[in-house]
Amino acid sequence: MITNLSSWKALQAYYEEIKQLHLKKLFADDSDRGKKFSVDANDLYIDYSKNRITDQTLKLFWDLLVEVGFEERRLAMFNGEHINTTEDKAVLHVALRERKRTEVLEVLERMTVFSDKVRSGEWTGYTGKRIKNIVNLGIGGSDLGPRMVYHALRNYSERDLIVRFVSNVDPADFYEATLDLDPSETLFTVASKTFTTAETMANAKLAREWVTGHAKSDAFGRVGDIVARHFVAMSTNEQGVTEFGIDRTNMFPFWDFVGGRYSVMSAIGLSDMIAIGPNNFYELLDGAQAMDKHFLEAPLPQNAPVILAVLGVWYNNFVNVETQAILPYSQYLQHFPDYLQQLEMESNGKGVNKLGERVDYKTAPVVWGEAGTNGQHSFYQLLHQGTHLVPIDFIGFLQTNDMLYANMVAQGEALAFGAENKDESHRNFDGNHPSTTIVAKELTPSVLGQLIALYEHKVFTQGVIWDINSFDQFGVELGKKLANNILPELASQGELKHDSSTNALITEYRAKT
Ligand code: F6P
Repeated sequence: MITNLSSWKALQAYYEEIKQLHLKKLFADDSDRGKKFSVDANDLYIDYSKNRITDQTLKLFWDLLVEVGFEERRLAMFNGEHINTTEDKAVLHVALRERKRTEVLEVLERMTVFSDKVRSGEWTGYTGKRIKNIVNLGIGGSDLGPRMVYHALRNYSERDLIVRFVSNVDPADFYEATLDLDPSETLFTVASKTFTTAETMANAKLAREWVTGHAKSDAFGRVGDIVARHFVAMSTNEQGVTEFGIDRTNMFPFWDFVGGRYSVMSAIGLSDMIAIGPNNFYELLDGAQAMDKHFLEAPLPQNAPVILAVLGVWYNNFVNVETQAILPYSQYLQHFPDYLQQLEMESNGKGVNKLGERVDYKTAPVVWGEAGTNGQHSFYQLLHQGTHLVPIDFIGFLQTNDMLYANMVAQGEALAFGAENKDESHRNFDGNHPSTTIVAKELTPSVLGQLIALYEHKVFTQGVIWDINSFDQFGVELGKKLANNILPELASQGELKHDSSTNALITEYRAKT
């Protein structure tokens, strides 16, 4: 167990030594602190000086990374070794942006041709009308990734296209997303790695019935042809896709070496490529690749993902906090906290190590967040004066509204240094609340790619330290299985209000509303 490693024990002992230190004192004692604890990684500048660490903390972490064999494990991932041991799979989302493998290049080329056709109006619906609406159907990584990227890069998107995302099996999600859309102008991108996920399959059937139902009433074409014009799939499961009725030529494949929560730069990102155009999508990949290179080559003390990772482990395992907040000061990044929540919690929310032994230390924290400044008028009260210690990642952009940027900087300072009010304890701010500030000039596709890869590699590094498999997700299986058992039971007891036909479900729903 890692808790027996000498560097781990040294970190524990060192924490006891410095746990009373206040950030005010750390800054007062070292005028160089701001410069010393900051790093440039491509277009990102990361200031981590407002964390409760010293040079010695980092030195002990570099020892720990040697003891856990970090560099070998990192190389093993980039070399395509089957580091997802429980599923015997390689983990190669980095190959998507490296773009050397023939299969990766071929799919990107097909995605490009298709996106251009939709964007130019050459690809039409079954009546010959131009596609005006893109609705992505998917859940988990097949939703959170494309949804986050679309919103982040909305400023780069084709404004004439309406792009929506449906994930929940609650038909209300589909209903609300399609209420004002014309089926003959709507293209569904069905995103599912396995093409068996219950929620996505239910929504895809609903969509198929919505489009073909509309077409029938208009007495147009054969169902197969209609589905071919309005449905494409992004998946690893060709059989599932074709059985659903989607033509093989409308399927954009990816591969087992790309995990669901790491898939937004694979074919799963097709809705994004249509929205922002192929060139911007390639810039996203370039940005991620630049961060991959940085992660692979930068020495540990200058390695941005590694620094974020060790800070997280410090708070999680030594300071003993429970959560990590992600607070982007950009409305465009409103979905970034949700995206990172899956990335971190599904990857590293594990209770056994790689050998299957129960761990005697904590793994992933609870990750949560909200776009600034909204949070300031809600949960920041707890951050400033509550009883929980919450490490924060602020993410901001220089070319943004000055007020927004000023707010972010002010929050970091207020949290770190506090404000003494001896006369009135209710108005006293203790400070000493840690935060890291990640800044770029502006939120471009490349910068977004860098941010995504930054956190992916942070999660990888933490998984190495915690000695867990970050790439399986058996924890989500049990609930799914139980739901599948309960469903027929309810149906046989006549407790289901509707039959299994999703169309009946939506008809009932529409009638009610
Ligand atoms: O909920 C578990 C999960 O497997 C996630 O890891 C994944 O992102 C999501 O379901 C969607 O899976 P699929 O792309 O196969 O539909």
